[in-house]
Amino acid sequence: MTVPQTHTGRVAVVTGAARGIGRAIAVDLGARGATVVAVDLTAPDETVALLSAEGHPVLGLTADVSSPEQTAAVGEEAARRFGRTDILVNNAGIFPIGDIEDVDYDTWRRVLTVNLDSQFLMVKAVLPAMKKGGWGRIVNLTSDSIVSNVPGISHYMASKMGIIGFSRGLANDLAPFGITVNAAGPALTITPGVLQGNHTPEGLAAAAQAQAIKRNGLPEDLTGTIAFLSSDDSAFMTGQTLMADGGLAR
Ligand SMILES: NC(=O)c1ccc[n+]([C@@H]2O[C@H](COP(=O)([O-])OP(=O)(O)OC[C@H]3O[C@@H](n4cnc5c(N)ncnc54)[C@H](O)[C@@H]3O)[C@@H](O)[C@H]2O)c1
Repeated sequence: MTVPQTHTGRVAVVTGAARGIGRAIAVDLGARGATVVAVDLTAPDETVALLSAEGHPVLGLTADVSSPEQTAAVGEEAARRFGRTDILVNNAGIFPIGDIEDVDYDTWRRVLTVNLDSQFLMVKAVLPAMKKGGWGRIVNLTSDSIVSNVPGISHYMASKMGIIGFSRGLANDLAPFGITVNAAGPALTITPGVLQGNHTPEGLAAAAQAQAIKRNGLPEDLTGTIAFLSSDDSAFMTGQTLMADGGLAR
């Protein structure tokens, strides 16, 4: 199948791109013609190899997106290497599960910092180049779990709800510069992060049964939504939250 070249000439920074949903997004945007800057805490070598093998331009950067210094360096390096930054997909996130009795303050802070503060920091890092280009798309990953009735994720839900508020407010700030900001949320998706967590087979099956489409998500299930929100096609859409969650019951 020929992939539509909706992102030709765009430079897209994708965080958490070494594996899982972030890798799928990076590979899809590259296939659509974007130059991808793949950012991760661990070197995104496999993502870089996948894109390079298809002849797509890509730069892999190792950085902690919860660090003000390291995110600033990512923004500077992307602009220095490619002269522009058009798209930011804030995908990196963590989801340690634990009842409120077991979640200590350090875990609470870490989840808020990695999931929410990181999006603020990455926006600050790419904004100078994006404003200079007069066109931009920022897509922030939230989660289907914001409407969940599953216990043990109040800290995660707080971070992912915060992302929706941040996106809504930022949309107001950046509209004058031709930059849209939207949030996008996947269903419970089979990724390395989920497989390393303490999901039971029964829990995964129950999550699928709560959806209209009765299977767990795959990383590729979100890529079309991200492609739309990072393209010209979504030009008049900002401050919104788009869920590709298989029709989760609310
Ligand atoms: N998988 C799901 O079921 C699901 C559901 C809803 C939302 N999400 C969201 O989707 C995003 C991706 O999830 P996933 O399942 O692919 O996760 P994953 O754990 O498989 O991959 C996450 C990637 O982010 C990177 N990362 C983590 N902390 C980082 C940091 N401080 N700096 C840089 N990189 C960092 C990891 O190294 C990893 O490569 C997350 O924001 C998550 O909250 C996932």
